[in-house]
Amino acid sequence: MKKRRSGAPLLFLLLLVLLLFSELTIQQQQPLSSPAEFAALLGLRSSLGIRSREWPIKADPCSSWQGVKCENGSVAGINISGFRRTRVGRENPQFSVDALPNFTLLTSFNASSFFLPGQIPNWFGQRLGSLQVLDLRSCGIIGIVPPSLGNLTNLTSLYLADNRLNGSIPSSFASLKNLSTLDISSNSLSGLIPLGIGNLSGLQHLNLSGNKLSGSLPGQLGDLGNLVNLDLSFNDLSGPVPSNFRGLRSLQRMLLGNNLLSGPLPDDLFSNISQLQVVVLRNNSFSGSVPGLLWSVPGLVLLDISSNNFTDLLPDTGSNHTAAVLNISQNMFYGNLTQLLKGFSLIDLSENYFEGKIPDLAGTNLSLGNNCLQNASDQRTVGECTSFYAEKGLVFDNFGQPPETGKKSNRKLIILVGVLGGLGLVAFLFLALLFICIRKRGSTNQRAVVAGPASASGTPLPSGTSVDFSNIGDAYTYQQLLQATNEFNDSNLIKHGHSGDLFRGILDGGIPVVIKKVDLRSIRKEVYPVELDFFSKVSHGRFVPFLGHCLESENEKFLVYKYMPNEDLASSLFRKTSSEDDTLQSLDWIKRLKIAVGAAEGLSYLHHECLPPLVHRDVQASSILLDDKYEVRLGSLSEVSAQGDTHQSRISRLLRLQQSMEQGTSDSSTANCAYDVYCFGKVLLELVTGKLGLSASSDAEMKEWLEKTLPHINIYDKELVTKIVDPLLIVDEDLLEEVWAMAIVARSCLNPKPSRRPPMRYVLKALENPLKIVREDNTGSARLRTTSSRGSWNAALFGSWRHSSSDVAVIPASSAAKVEGTSSFKQSATTGSQGSNHNGSSSHRRHSKEIFPEPSDVQDVERHDQE
Ligand SMILES: *[C@@H]1O[C@H](CO)[C@@H](O)[C@H](O)[C@H]1NC(C)=O
Ligand SMILES: *[C@@H]1O[C@H](CO)[C@@H](O)[C@H](O)[C@H]1NC(C)=O
Ligand SMILES: *[C@@H]1O[C@H](CO)[C@@H](O)[C@H](O)[C@H]1NC(C)=O
Ligand SMILES: *[C@@H]1O[C@H](CO)[C@@H](O)[C@H](O)[C@H]1NC(C)=O
Ligand SMILES: *[C@@H]1O[C@H](CO)[C@@H](O)[C@H](O)[C@H]1NC(C)=O
Ligand SMILES: *[C@@H]1O[C@H](CO)[C@@H](O)[C@H](O)[C@H]1NC(C)=O
Ligand SMILES: *[C@@H]1O[C@H](CO)[C@@H](O)[C@H](O)[C@H]1NC(C)=O
Ligand SMILES: *[C@@H]1O[C@H](CO)[C@@H](O)[C@H](O)[C@H]1NC(C)=O
Ligand SMILES: *[C@@H]1O[C@H](CO)[C@@H](O)[C@H](O)[C@H]1NC(C)=O
Ligand SMILES: *[C@@H]1O[C@H](CO)[C@@H](O)[C@H](O)[C@H]1NC(C)=O
Ligand SMILES: *[C@@H]1O[C@H](CO)[C@@H](O)[C@H](O)[C@H]1NC(C)=O
Repeated sequence: MKKRRSGAPLLFLLLLVLLLFSELTIQQQQPLSSPAEFAALLGLRSSLGIRSREWPIKADPCSSWQGVKCENGSVAGINISGFRRTRVGRENPQFSVDALPNFTLLTSFNASSFFLPGQIPNWFGQRLGSLQVLDLRSCGIIGIVPPSLGNLTNLTSLYLADNRLNGSIPSSFASLKNLSTLDISSNSLSGLIPLGIGNLSGLQHLNLSGNKLSGSLPGQLGDLGNLVNLDLSFNDLSGPVPSNFRGLRSLQRMLLGNNLLSGPLPDDLFSNISQLQVVVLRNNSFSGSVPGLLWSVPGLVLLDISSNNFTDLLPDTGSNHTAAVLNISQNMFYGNLTQLLKGFSLIDLSENYFEGKIPDLAGTNLSLGNNCLQNASDQRTVGECTSFYAEKGLVFDNFGQPPETGKKSNRKLIILVGVLGGLGLVAFLFLALLFICIRKRGSTNQRAVVAGPASASGTPLPSGTSVDFSNIGDAYTYQQLLQATNEFNDSNLIKHGHSGDLFRGILDGGIPVVIKKVDLRSIRKEVYPVELDFFSKVSHGRFVPFLGHCLESENEKFLVYKYMPNEDLASSLFRKTSSEDDTLQSLDWIKRLKIAVGAAEGLSYLHHECLPPLVHRDVQASSILLDDKYEVRLGSLSEVSAQGDTHQSRISRLLRLQQSMEQGTSDSSTANCAYDVYCFGKVLLELVTGKLGLSASSDAEMKEWLEKTLPHINIYDKELVTKIVDPLLIVDEDLLEEVWAMAIVARSCLNPKPSRRPPMRYVLKALENPLKIVREDNTGSARLRTTSSRGSWNAALFGSWRHSSSDVAVIPASSAAKVEGTSSFKQSATTGSQGSNHNGSSSHRRHSKEIFPEPSDVQDVERHDQE
């Protein structure tokens, strides 16, 4: 009795408080008042396929629907970012938002990461005038940016990044006077940057990176005095940086890397820009000296001007930076290292011409390779350094050694020494080449192909000073080839490959062929013998049929292959149906899977049936040739080498001709099978996502994209993968499982640790039985099975996959890639990991080692940014 009496008032009070609270919240959120808007919401709900979990039909939208924001009983904001669609909505996803204009007070529409395959409707610009925020990032949108968007003059933020928009940036954007953020990065926009963007005086964030914009930088952009972030990297912009850019006085991040910009930087460029924190100009063709003020911008965090043509001395001043990153590698800086470097914590000076002693820079992470420095390893030769300094009219310090010639060295003598040094270098290189050729013949003799149809032709090469390739295929005369290609007419040029120019041709008798013209004056001399050597040993159905050669001319060598009617994967993935019709036709899933299996067969043959294992080293979509039945015939065989065999890269380093090669292939780490597996993983991902060009690149943009994409591949959640699947791919529920499986295989191939990538033969097995991956392993007993000791391909795949599921990495294209920062100003919310299991990794580790042992000298490529 007592208890009840004391409890009752308390309960009453509680109820009262609760009531009051609910009253309050209801007062705060007035219910939706307009039936027309309710009808419009229902329309949107069904046209987009939004689930009742988010938008429960019986409840009031203003108070209970996720992402619906109301003001005074009207819908003011809609945020369906990242929503999942109903089953029906998923089956036929469309950019169908016809109800939007019915919300007269709509100020914000956020559909980022919500799949809207289709074009931005033209009426957006006419009928959504109240919009202030429009966020359509990562929606799979195609087509052009409608010029009518220029009518949305209330817009303050416009995000269209990470879609497949093409065409140009409408000049009508000059009317968006209230804009503070414009982000159209990662699309396929071409054409010029509209001058009118310079009129958007309130603009703070401008990101046009990752498109195909061309032309020069408009000086008008320099009028953007409020601009904080400017990201124009990864385009085809050319010409100089206009001196007007000195007007960007609020700028904190200037990202102009990976374009075709050139010329010297204006001297006074940085005279007003004092807030700078990040400057990335890498991978352009800038020349001349660096404006002195840039070195001493006080708040600098990252300065990356690598891979340009800057030539300058470092100023001998201290700097105020703390822990900044400096990358000036691959330029032509010279002279002594100075005090300036003391302000930086991570410095890459490699591939310049610095001389003299290395100052004490305790606590600094320093890369110095390929300079002219004293007491350092991996430096340039005396000859290179001497002639570089001689060209500048300077005396090279000869690595601190006294010069051998007389003490009174006048300039003439020095130039003479330079020239002689150069000659010596030539002689040395010649000898080195000879030596390596001889060695190579030795090693190719050992490189017998044990299995496969080639074993019969593994005859030893005839002795003599020159290697005789005349018995491989037919010998054609130069005259025949001239006739076949209409004298190597430009109209027959297919492309400039990195190992030679490819021409289409028709031989006598009407046989269509592809002819590779290798000009030895611009292509490494060992390229074509490598390929001939390959064809002399290997004839397997998965490689491009080799017909013959023409080696008559001293400077030009020709290799002749059978013509592949469907060219290569890079050009077949999407194709215009006809020349007048603009609709794209993409390869259907059955063909994509067939191509993946075919390519895996070829690589598996190289890795597992040749002895020693051969590494392709150039696996990418354009190396996967397709015959008339879309059967894979691998091409691009000029980089093939035996696993662990790096003398090729040693030659090229000697000849200093890496520029002519694809980035990254000169790295010795590429001469192992795991590198091929990694590249193949990118090809698989390209097949799944339709992201063209992925497998051909290894740059920061690709890395960023991978970091965003891989978390969508989860072995426990099939639906996640739908967010990354190529929008042009039409797949039903059953095929989706195969797509999912291929994505999982891709992810395991992309394991940052080479030793944990599955061997090619397991990759092949997995692709041949895709449903086994998802159906067997997706059950509750999966973990048991994968850790069992039966060592199946399935286990190998998942052993490696589980490790990789929590981390993402990319093989750095070169040491320069250690410095990041080219990324846009998007927040890097990338480290998310789904479904990874961190515990028990020790047993997995042991397990995966057992399944695919690797040579112990293979260096693991670790995540480099571990902070
Ligand atoms: C939007 O409003 C118009 C009339 O103003 C109406 O005809 C149309 O059906 C509405 N659309 C939706 C999806 O509610
Ligand atoms: C909401 O309505 C009230 C009264 O009708 C008005 O005072 C207020 O300004 C309105 N608020 C908005 C955001 O329209
Ligand atoms: C948009 O909706 C998503 C998913 O409901 C939510 O996580 C996010 O915080 C919302 N964003 C904004 C800006 O309201
Ligand atoms: C849209 O929603 C996403 C997800 O919540 C959020 O990250 C983003 O900032 C929103 N966009 C805008 C412009 O607020
Ligand atoms: C911008 O917003 C204001 C107030 O919401 C509105 O009156 C005006 O019509 C809008 N501008 C356009 C171009 O629709
Ligand atoms: C919207 O923009 C288009 C193209 O820029 C223009 O032709 C049209 O007149 C504009 N419409 C309105 C209502 O402002
Ligand atoms: C747009 O800018 C004008 C003038 O600067 C201002 O009056 C108006 O309020 C702004 N509109 C919005 C939606 O911010
Ligand atoms: C843009 O891409 C579409 C296919 O998505 C194509 O039909 C159209 O021709 C392209 N437009 C331009 C201007 O490139
Ligand atoms: C760098 O400059 C040299 C001459 O100074 C020129 O030969 C070379 O082509 C330039 N390289 C680039 C990438 O612009
Ligand atoms: C460091 O900064 C202070 C004030 O910010 C300035 O006076 C000084 O000259 C700077 N030193 C150098 C070496 O730039
Ligand atoms: C580098 O320092 C040495 C010794 O101080 C000096 O002789 C040489 O001229 C300097 N090099 C240049 C290019 O200034």
